Amino acid sequence: MELTPSADPFPAFPADFAWGTATAAYQIEGAWDEDGKGPSTWDTFVHQPGRVTRGQTGDVACDFYHRWESDLDLMAQLGVNAHRFSVAWSRVLPAGRGVPNEAGLAFYDRLVDGLLARGIAPYVTLHHWDLPQALEDEGGWTSRATAEAFAEYAALMGDRLGDRVTGWITLNEPFVLTSFGHSFGVHAPGRTMLLGVWAVVHHLLLAHGLGTRALRDAGVTGGVGITQNLSPVWALTDSPEDTAAAAKLDALYNRQWLDPILLGTQPVDPEATYPGSDFSVVRDGDAAIIATPIDFLGVNFYNPQQVKGAASDNPMGFELVPIDGVPRTGFDWPVVPSALTDLLVGLRDHYGAALPPMFITENGTSIPDVIDADGRVRDGFRIAYLDRHLRAIADAMAAGVDMRGYFCWTFTDNFEWAEGFDQRFGLVYVDPDTQARTPKDSFAWYRQVVTGEAAGRVPEVIP
Ligand code: FCB
Repeated sequence: MELTPSADPFPAFPADFAWGTATAAYQIEGAWDEDGKGPSTWDTFVHQPGRVTRGQTGDVACDFYHRWESDLDLMAQLGVNAHRFSVAWSRVLPAGRGVPNEAGLAFYDRLVDGLLARGIAPYVTLHHWDLPQALEDEGGWTSRATAEAFAEYAALMGDRLGDRVTGWITLNEPFVLTSFGHSFGVHAPGRTMLLGVWAVVHHLLLAHGLGTRALRDAGVTGGVGITQNLSPVWALTDSPEDTAAAAKLDALYNRQWLDPILLGTQPVDPEATYPGSDFSVVRDGDAAIIATPIDFLGVNFYNPQQVKGAASDNPMGFELVPIDGVPRTGFDWPVVPSALTDLLVGLRDHYGAALPPMFITENGTSIPDVIDADGRVRDGFRIAYLDRHLRAIADAMAAGVDMRGYFCWTFTDNFEWAEGFDQRFGLVYVDPDTQARTPKDSFAWYRQVVTGEAAGRVPEVIP
């Protein structure tokens, strides 16, 4: 189904709104074993047969480790005033804790300075899924020691970059790391613990709290927050079974990762939700650590979810139902921009004064882009996707929701986890064989948005 941009004038956003792009270390850096970097769970995972489509790896990815300067020049041409990137934990702490790797630290030093020199505010994610393999070998996120190592790592990065970073994001999408990585094994570390993952949930939340405190203790000048993937959950009908199923997924997907941080409570009953788990992992005082106040919430939004009640032998208590009758992305994800307005307004209504200011830390779409004979990439679907979602954010702001910025996922096409290079999300087309970069039509469109040129008119779609 077709997706078109709105024909109405583009809304004006506040002058101090953060306009950026978002990336993650494993998806772009390459240099997986260079300059003293230790292996991560993703390095291990991609080298196992059958894990990634067509056996692709992120060994080279976008070669950002070597091409960062020219990529930042291109980013400056895009006109963004902010950029979110992640640090590869095992590049700076090859064994996950202990002796730092100076070459790795120096890389991120240069990157931060390079962004600042181009007028781009750095937002740093500490953990975007690439756990040092040495920690995984000792139990990974099933072990409390990993949360403690995370605090050590956060302190190290806070000491090193804390005077220059605008925003710190402790973790990226702990729900996806738990479900894809630990329940179902389709992402690193490839564990198949199914519902027995309570220890992973708890230790990720604990790591966030410990990391937040460690960053503050290190005296960072920027704000500290966390990035969650959040979705409104729709019940297929208003039957009691479907409504209960929606409440169940909402708790697992959204509230389990927000209530403990914002309200100091855990909405799921661990023993009923995670049978087979180790429930002894929770210690006195953990809830208070997890509820350490944060300065902002990062929201990654791609699509809403729909569920119905499940058969009684389904331990999840819900069954996902495809959302029909809407455009779909290259990943076959449904496109429902109004769901983003509903999500943001719903968060404000649910959490009230406990909700800090929010950023959209990821939003974007994959499509099967091609370079046309004239050298252009006509990604009108992406332009329409971004246009509709940005207007949805403006609608939420008009309803009084405190939004501080938007980071488009993503800058360059990159290694999209288990899909390798097959799913393209970038504003810039990348040929993974030649590493050639080609700005897409959406690059020129987004430039008009982030520079404010688009406000009050319909942005040009053709560069
Ligand atoms: C998010 C991830 C990001 C990217 C997008 C498409 O879940 O945080 O790394 O893969 O999805």
